[in-house]
Amino acid sequence: MTATLIDGKAFAATVRGKVATHVARLKEAQGITPGLAVVLVGDDPASEVYVRSKGKQTVEVGMNSYEHKLPAETSEEDLLALIERLNADKDVHGILVQLPLPAHLDEALVINAINPAKDVDGFHISNVGLLGTGQKAMVPCTPLGCLMMLRDHHGSLSGLNAVVIGRSNIVGKPMAQLLLGDSCTVTVAHSRTKDLPEVVKRADIVVAAVGRAHFVQGDWIKPGASVIDVGINRIPAPEKGSHEDGSVKTRLVGDVDFEAAKDVAGAITPVPGGVGPMTIACLLANTLTACCRVHG
Ligand code: GUN
Repeated sequence: MTATLIDGKAFAATVRGKVATHVARLKEAQGITPGLAVVLVGDDPASEVYVRSKGKQTVEVGMNSYEHKLPAETSEEDLLALIERLNADKDVHGILVQLPLPAHLDEALVINAINPAKDVDGFHISNVGLLGTGQKAMVPCTPLGCLMMLRDHHGSLSGLNAVVIGRSNIVGKPMAQLLLGDSCTVTVAHSRTKDLPEVVKRADIVVAAVGRAHFVQGDWIKPGASVIDVGINRIPAPEKGSHEDGSVKTRLVGDVDFEAAKDVAGAITPVPGGVGPMTIACLLANTLTACCRVHG
């Protein structure tokens, strides 16, 4: 391995430590405790794991956590009424509606009902517009975490060639905006991109967010490039044996062929332990920011 391993787990612990210190100071000086409300509709097991983890870490940094679990058949009207209540609640500084929502609920309508100042996911159309025009926005947590790790590793990103693979609203597009904001030359690649290996080969920074296991090959990477792997893919792992019911065990892998890329890249994030832990740390940082914007 020649690449520096970017330790997202350790970085996230540092971010949470700084947030906790600030929260304690806010409590002592002004008697204010930041509060994060997380809304989960339905019982998707992966979403339940995420929501539990968010709640636990929120409390660990000294903030208040408000969990709202609603049945899968909740009506749009009832969900919007809850969001209205949370918008009006002075103890709630951040609101997160866990995605995906059940199919009968209009995701855009629900997200845009959140007060943009409390939109700690940065998904509200106002925050998307503010970020796109270089103004003070709530920034989506996963790309924010990626940017923090890149800044920490490089210092300045100015003038570097960055390729973002994936054009989702949650990761790809905001990641491109953030890198542009740091004066990178940004290419957004996607499933229709021609000669993707050649496009990636030019990049000093590669952010992979396609959701396909081991999609980015080691020989696509420019020697010395920084590789940020946003992918969280579960694949069969026969080497780990099988469960009692005979099904094979699984393991988590990223969108990058880590074993090959680590001998070419200058720096790389592992999966797990890279981008993942930074996402929740940035959610907590965004909640603190939202609280501070209200209370000065
Ligand atoms: N589902 C998967 N990732 C996210 C996220 O960052 N925010 C929300 N609200 N839902 C998600």
